Amino acid sequence: MQIRIDQERIAQEIEALAHFSDAEPPAVTRVVFTEQDLRARDWLKNRFDEAGLAVRVDAVGNTFARWRGSRPDLPAVATGSHVDAIPYSGKFDGVVGVLGGLEAIRALKMSGFKPTRSIELIQLTSEEPTRFGIGCLGSRLLSGVVTPESDEKLRDSSGETLRFVRTKAGFVGDLASVRLSQGAYAAFVELHIEQGPTLERDGIAIGLVTEIAAPASFLITLVGQGGHAGGTLMLGRRDALCAASELILGIELLARSSGAVDTVATVGTCEIHPDAINSIPSRVKLGVDLRDIDSVRRDRIFEEIKSFAKNISDQRQVEIDFEVLNADAPASSSPHVLGAIRAACSATGVSSREIVSRAYHDSLFMSRLAPMAMIFIPCRDGVSHRPDEFAAIGNIATGVEVLARALAELASEAG
Ligand code: GLV
Ligand code: MN
Ligand code: MN
Repeated sequence: MQIRIDQERIAQEIEALAHFSDAEPPAVTRVVFTEQDLRARDWLKNRFDEAGLAVRVDAVGNTFARWRGSRPDLPAVATGSHVDAIPYSGKFDGVVGVLGGLEAIRALKMSGFKPTRSIELIQLTSEEPTRFGIGCLGSRLLSGVVTPESDEKLRDSSGETLRFVRTKAGFVGDLASVRLSQGAYAAFVELHIEQGPTLERDGIAIGLVTEIAAPASFLITLVGQGGHAGGTLMLGRRDALCAASELILGIELLARSSGAVDTVATVGTCEIHPDAINSIPSRVKLGVDLRDIDSVRRDRIFEEIKSFAKNISDQRQVEIDFEVLNADAPASSSPHVLGAIRAACSATGVSSREIVSRAYHDSLFMSRLAPMAMIFIPCRDGVSHRPDEFAAIGNIATGVEVLARALAELASEAG
């Protein structure tokens, strides 16, 4: 089968999508259900319509663009990713999987291929945790990992509930209707940049993702005693920020000494109250991301962080409380779907290698609905979640061709 990827078109589309942003270029900030996110969604919907796909949008804004196969009664083969972008990030994270999925479908249509199973492109809502505190919101809801009660429980930093925010953005209906049944798809394949340096360093075109590491995130609230920065002497202070500082360094140390390079911990947010230069911080809230490919080791480090915090709390007379936001299991790819991707690499004539994903992806949750595998392409210096994130168009096109061929094979299987 001859597959022609239109590199110029996908490059232009990546640029066009990057303009829907609350940050100055080259940075991209596109937080779920903000005006820029809604404009990006409209723009994408037009691209899906132009490609002749039938579009459905669910109550949380997951968008499904379907190319109907000759056996629409069979579970479809799906691909997709996200287009929300964390503050001051880049143009490629997630976007390559959505626009790449679209280009793969257009290329297959152009080649004259006729799918047996329908092929569905899914733009998943809020893979990033920026607004509601947990990542992969859309795919968690699709797979039933978070329940419809999250509609009232999840709140953004201004205290607005998920229900309020999504309804205001035009996504209405009962959140329970989002969930799909097990077996809704025959396969799910996600194309993504590696977000790590190994493919580029070793000159490998395609990463065949065999596993996705287990992510966890939690909030730590430290409550001490505030006071006048001049009038309160140092002795006996209960400064919540000083306690938080010790704890942050402790978290780094515990992750570093876990015994495996696969343990990573990041304190990514820190809110200080009352946040005034001449006032002792009385309350601090830290947002912590902890991951490992081994969830038992990850959970052990979490327990060690808690005992470390207990010591700080006793010594400094600062209350320290933990709230777990998520602690997910890792996911394994399906050998069958990986086989289709491997065959697609051979047909495309490109090198490939098995790889573990240290970042999480919607595929972590889609794997609960359907056999899943991911395709990684190299990105420059492994950089991601930064404005200088970059993937060369030639590498993107290779990934799209491999995706197209894998989808074609999976969508031809009637059995
Ligand atoms: C996804 O963006 C992640 O943080 O792994
Ligand atoms: Mn990301
Ligand atoms: Mn991503």
